[in-house]
Amino acid sequence: MTKEDARLVKRSFSRCFIGGKNVIDRFYDIFLHSHPDIAGKFKHTDFIQQKLLLRQGINCILMFAEGSYAGEFCLEEIKVSHNKKHINIHPSYYVYWRDSLLKALSEDDPEYNQELEQLWIQAIDYGIKFIADGY
Ligand code: HEM
Repeated sequence: MTKEDARLVKRSFSRCFIGGKNVIDRFYDIFLHSHPDIAGKFKHTDFIQQKLLLRQGINCILMFAEGSYAGEFCLEEIKVSHNKKHINIHPSYYVYWRDSLLKALSEDDPEYNQELEQLWIQAIDYGIKFIADGY
């Protein structure tokens, strides 16, 4: 992804936090109901903390998409934490994560459009492939 494309996606993400909105809240509402197995994996989760971590995690995905080493370093941690030996997130669940995030973004970014969605998909799929390859 070019720097300019990455900039467009980052600006989209920023717009989702304007005026007290928080796209991460909406993301978890959608994600936890997107597949019958998912809520159970977050039974013991402190969501205040988790939401902050995920906001950071999405920023890592965006940095990784533009080829930054810091982005890769940060996704490497998520790759390990989500693998079979740790929280054990099977690769088949990532599509629910992606579609939940796209839905939340489409609701919270007032400038969301199809072109932007394609850029988001490009960035997310690239990050997901990296993480899920470590399963
Ligand atoms: C690209 C997609 C994803 C990203 C960027 C992401 C990011 C994160 C981050 C940053 C954390 C906290 C730090 C860590 O444990 O590494 C976390 C924890 C977690 N994630 Fe993910 N995640 C993704 C996909 C998923 C999927 C598909 C599931 C499936 C249900 C999932 C389930 C969990 C669980 C259960 C935790 C631990 C929560 C706890 O501490 O109780 N994640 N994730």
